[in-house]
Amino acid sequence: MIDDKKVIFSGMQATGNLTLGNYVGALKNWITLCNEYECFFSVVDLHSITVRQDPAELRSRARKLLTLYIAAGLDPKKNCIYYQSHVSAHAELAWILDCFTYMGELNRMTQFKDKSAKHADNINAGLYTYPVLMAADILLYQADVVPVGKDQLQHLEITRDIAQRFNAVYGDVFTIPEPYLGKAGAKIMSLQDPTKKMSKSDENLNASIYLMDDKDTIIRKFKRAVTDSEGMIQYRDEQPGIKNLIDIYGACTGKTPEETVKEFDGKGYGDFKIAVGEAVAELLVPLQDRFHELEKDKAFIDSIIKDNAEKANYYATKTLRKVQKKVGFPERIR
Ligand code: TRP
Repeated sequence: MIDDKKVIFSGMQATGNLTLGNYVGALKNWITLCNEYECFFSVVDLHSITVRQDPAELRSRARKLLTLYIAAGLDPKKNCIYYQSHVSAHAELAWILDCFTYMGELNRMTQFKDKSAKHADNINAGLYTYPVLMAADILLYQADVVPVGKDQLQHLEITRDIAQRFNAVYGDVFTIPEPYLGKAGAKIMSLQDPTKKMSKSDENLNASIYLMDDKDTIIRKFKRAVTDSEGMIQYRDEQPGIKNLIDIYGACTGKTPEETVKEFDGKGYGDFKIAVGEAVAELLVPLQDRFHELEKDKAFIDSIIKDNAEKANYYATKTLRKVQKKVGFPERIR
C-alpha cells in the first residue's frame, strides 16, 4: 500500500514494434487501472539483453516505449513510468532471490524452453534467471496486482512461490502479488492466421497491426485479412478470422459481438473489413499524433525520466534495505 492505494507493477520490453494486440491486451488495461492504484510501469531493459540487442536501437526503442506509455494516456506525474536499468535495486534483489529459487523450478518455465529453442546459440544464464528478475521487479514495489498476459502467468506463479518461501523464513517481507488478466475475450489474433496470437515478432508484416501504422496501411492490412468462405458475419469459433475482426471492432468501439453482428447483418466481408480498419485507425491515429508531439518535447520527457527514476529508486531501495538486513548483510555506516 502506498498512501492507502494498492500497488500495481507491470512492464514491457522495448523490443519489436508494439502491435494493436499489445495495446488492447496490455496498455489499454493499464489505463483503466491507473487512477485507482499506485502504479509502476517499467520499460524492462534489463530483461531485453537476455537476447542480443543493437545498443543504439535498444536505447532508441526504450525511449519510444516510455513515450508511448504517456501518449497512450498514462499520466507520468501520477504513474511511475521509468527505465528498469535506472534502478539498480532490481539487479541487486534479483541476486538475492536467485539464492531462493531452485533450478528445478526454472527448468520448468515454458518461456525459457521456447526461447532456448529459438536462440540455441545463446542460451545464457540471464535467459534462465529471467523469471527471478521479474520477481524482483514485482516484489521491490510490494505490488498487490500485476497486469500480465496469459503467457506470463507462470512467471507470476514463481514470483509468488519465491515470495512465500522468503516470507516463511524471514517474516512478512514481501506482499504476495495477484495476477490481473483483464477483460476476457480481448485477445487479438493474427490477421493472416487467426488461430495464432498477433505478435510483434511475426515475420509476416501483414499479420500484425503496428501501433505506428498509418491509416492506409491499416486499411490495406484489414482488406487482406484471412477470413473464410461462409460469407456471413457471425461470431463463432468455426469462423476464427471473422471472429477476430469482430473482437477487434469491439475493442475499438466498445460494441459487443452481438451488436456488431447486428450492425453488419447482410453486409459483405469487404465492407466489414473496411469498417474495422477505420475503427482501428480512429483509435490509433490520435495516439500517434500525441506520441509525435511528446517526442518533440525532449525536455519534458527527460524530466519525466529523471523524476520517476528517483521515485522508483525511493520505493525500491526501501524494500531492498529491508531484505538485505533480513538476510544478514551488515548495516551501512552513515
Ligand atoms: N516478462 C514480461 C513480458 O515479456 C515483461 C516483464 C518484466 C514484466 N518484468 C515484469 C511484466 C514484471 C509484469 C511484471 O511480457
